[in-house]
Amino acid sequence: MVLLLIPLATIIITVFMLYQRRWRSNIPPGPPPRFLIGNLNQLKPLWTHSFSEWSKTYGPIISVWLGTQLAVVVSTSDLARQVLRDKDYQLSNRHRTARMTQNGSDLIWSDYGPHYVKLRKLCTLELFSTKSIECFTFMREMEVRSMVMSIFKDLVIDDQKPVMLRNYLGSVALNIVSKLVIGKKLEPKEGKEFKSIVEKETRLPGAMKLLDHALWLKRVSSWFTSDKVFLKHMARRRHWFRQAVMDQEEEYGEREKCLVHSLLVLKQRNELSEETVMGLVWNMLTAGADTTAITIEWAMAEILRNPAVQGKVQHELDSVVGTKRLMYESDIPKLPYLQCIVKESLRLHPPTPLMLPHKASESVHIGGYKVPKGTTVYVNVQAIGRDPTNWRNPNEFRPERFLLEETDVKGQDFRVLPFGSGRRVCPAAQLSMNLITLALGNLLHCFSWTSSTPREDIDMLEKPGLVCYMKTPLQGLASSRLSQELYLELYAKID
Ligand code: HEM
Repeated sequence: MVLLLIPLATIIITVFMLYQRRWRSNIPPGPPPRFLIGNLNQLKPLWTHSFSEWSKTYGPIISVWLGTQLAVVVSTSDLARQVLRDKDYQLSNRHRTARMTQNGSDLIWSDYGPHYVKLRKLCTLELFSTKSIECFTFMREMEVRSMVMSIFKDLVIDDQKPVMLRNYLGSVALNIVSKLVIGKKLEPKEGKEFKSIVEKETRLPGAMKLLDHALWLKRVSSWFTSDKVFLKHMARRRHWFRQAVMDQEEEYGEREKCLVHSLLVLKQRNELSEETVMGLVWNMLTAGADTTAITIEWAMAEILRNPAVQGKVQHELDSVVGTKRLMYESDIPKLPYLQCIVKESLRLHPPTPLMLPHKASESVHIGGYKVPKGTTVYVNVQAIGRDPTNWRNPNEFRPERFLLEETDVKGQDFRVLPFGSGRRVCPAAQLSMNLITLALGNLLHCFSWTSSTPREDIDMLEKPGLVCYMKTPLQGLASSRLSQELYLELYAKID
């Protein structure tokens, strides 16, 4: 029996290797993979760093084997254009894991097709069209004012205590997105539970981490992390969703218009499943809250390191807005330097440095190489934003560079792609730009900021993950800049 098995195994392995060689022919170059683990053992926790190093050796388009899954990473504007514009149709699917991404029944993880197009249209119409963005301006302004007020109140108690910006930014972003999506702010208990579920999710296999790419590793990991863990987690998510969203189904008719209201109408007509409604709500809350808060935190870190930038933007704010009122969204077009700060932060610190993973639905050629069907494709937008062929002194934070020429950061200019581009471009790009500029403008208009540590010591390291937080939460010392009466007036309005 054993004698029979040895030749049989040899034949199977030889055929497998021949097949692999043929399949791999003319794929982009990359670090030599090991049997079964590919390049997983060489990857640093911050993938972008490994990808950038490998690109120096192998060129701007590289193959990286995540276990047995081939990933192709591109790091120049020209290649990004090929992926996101020229071959957009063939590369518009998503690499996803079945468990955490609801089999693509939602928007973010859905493959490109009729279901996706229907959901995207619906979300654009309800949330992201110019009309709906305008419609919710007042709500965004009130939430930002409420953030200013919380900081002010904490300063009244102790103005020497460093302000942990993340705490305020996280709440304002989550409040705004939840008002848009479910028509109300999350109750403190609901918000806490939501954050705890999301936190847990990033630690479970199946959350787009290393293991998910290596099919055999995934199988091994599932011996240790049984289906029960996932089912329990998904039940917790569903329970939260039912309590925070569905249990108030009858109220949606009366509540100000929100995405869930429209989704539930479609659900009643059996045009959408509850799974999809939950997926969409989850997509918006998770994609929306963190990314905007992260961008503002990185921008503030750069400002604390560059006091001249703070001086310049405050001068602009004082001459346009003055010191007798607060900044509104309608002031933004008159604040070019503030807008440049936002663009410069997104160039240097895109919150999703590798965007979200795309997948080839058929074999295509990019940069003269073959990208076989099923390959995961990453666009390294962080590397593109720091590419010296695109930007002079790319690692310097210099908002002035955007004053020289009008540059779009919402997907038209391939030198700076924080929101991606093409069919899967972030649908909330304009909304996010408005919100980030408004919040940052108010933080800088209402307060003067200094670092609580010597400014050279501000930790600019990133935390590993699909979404790129600062590794050490930023803390700053704030002092109020405007008259006390203005803050008191605001206090009266908000309370
Ligand atoms: C600074 C803020 C933000 C940044 C930098 C950002 C960036 C991105 C990027 C890079 C993608 C993937 C593009 C691709 O794969 O080609 C994306 C997709 C997405 N974003 Fe954003 N985003 C931000 C804010 C938001 C907000 C506020 C929301 C919702 C309220 C949101 C909802 C989405 C959704 C639903 C998708 C999936 C689109 C699709 O697959 O078709 N994002 N975003």
